[in-house]
Amino acid sequence: MNNFIENLPKAELHLHIEGSFEPSLMFKIAKRNNIEIPFKSVQEIEDAYKFSCLQDFLDIYYQGANVLQTEQDFYDLTYSYLQKCAAQNVRHTEIMFDPQTHTDRGILFETVINGISKACNAAKENFGVTSLLIMSYLRHLSEDDCFKTLEQSIPFKDKITAVGLDSSEKGNPPSKFAKVFEASVKEGYIPVAHAGEEGNADYVWEALDILKIKRIDHGNNSLQDAKLVQEIIKRDLALTVCPLSNTALQVVKDLKEHPLKKMLNLGLKVTINSDDPAFFGGQVNENYKQIQQALDLSKETLYQLAKNSFTYSFLDAETKNKYLAELETYYQNNK
Ligand code: HPA
Ligand code: ZN
Repeated sequence: MNNFIENLPKAELHLHIEGSFEPSLMFKIAKRNNIEIPFKSVQEIEDAYKFSCLQDFLDIYYQGANVLQTEQDFYDLTYSYLQKCAAQNVRHTEIMFDPQTHTDRGILFETVINGISKACNAAKENFGVTSLLIMSYLRHLSEDDCFKTLEQSIPFKDKITAVGLDSSEKGNPPSKFAKVFEASVKEGYIPVAHAGEEGNADYVWEALDILKIKRIDHGNNSLQDAKLVQEIIKRDLALTVCPLSNTALQVVKDLKEHPLKKMLNLGLKVTINSDDPAFFGGQVNENYKQIQQALDLSKETLYQLAKNSFTYSFLDAETKNKYLAELETYYQNNK
């Protein structure tokens, strides 16, 4: 089964590039930039990665991102993640980045976007991995602050496909960002949002009805409301589920209790993703492997999950069909 997963062509639709920052690379970049980090060794960093909720994690995540200073740093971070994609048969990835995490400490928007997008171009050239970018607003900040980020992004619009909403969910409902999402859509960005990770079903409703999102990041708590589940199915919105993130942040107690099978049985379009792989114990293939074991998923289900990852990506129809055809051949030859 693990072999089937490793070779399965797939896409990753929920990945924070800052959350792919491995301790070893963090040390290397900190040293290069002469920045003190509050850890003496890779082991100390790994030991600190124990969380009891989303906020615990975010505090450490923002600390790690502080060492990123130059375009080269953002390039190295992104290229390192894309190399791992190639090794895992991830054909396509939709990468979230948090500009405010960097611009709020004096790094230019262009430093961030140029480093990330140059790495994406190089990875396409060197490994054939395609990618697109999702600019995520930090929901613990004000809507005005997000408007500034939207303005800064305009000269780089051709490099950005979608806008997202992440960071501390509770107390920061989607409705707080109604205007900036409306303006973002006017600029041509596709709206997505984290919803129903720690927040309740009413946050998912707001993300649907007010932000008009085209995909739901996490969405676990949608299951609280049968009407909402029906609405998500009616609108044909996929959920980007992140199993190891869910257990690391205690959204789900144990993988054996993960609602993924229930979601599929209800007719929800689910995809498997790593969220913040450097922090949550595994890349996307590890997420597939562990959830497969915990829920005893069949090859057919794994194929369906991979199929959803391409179908619900924001790729153009031609590229999407190319990947879907490759997946189909793989499944027919390996089922
Ligand atoms: N939830 C909210 N914000 C985040 C996450 C997450 O899982 N990862 C990085 N920022
Ligand atoms: Zn996330």
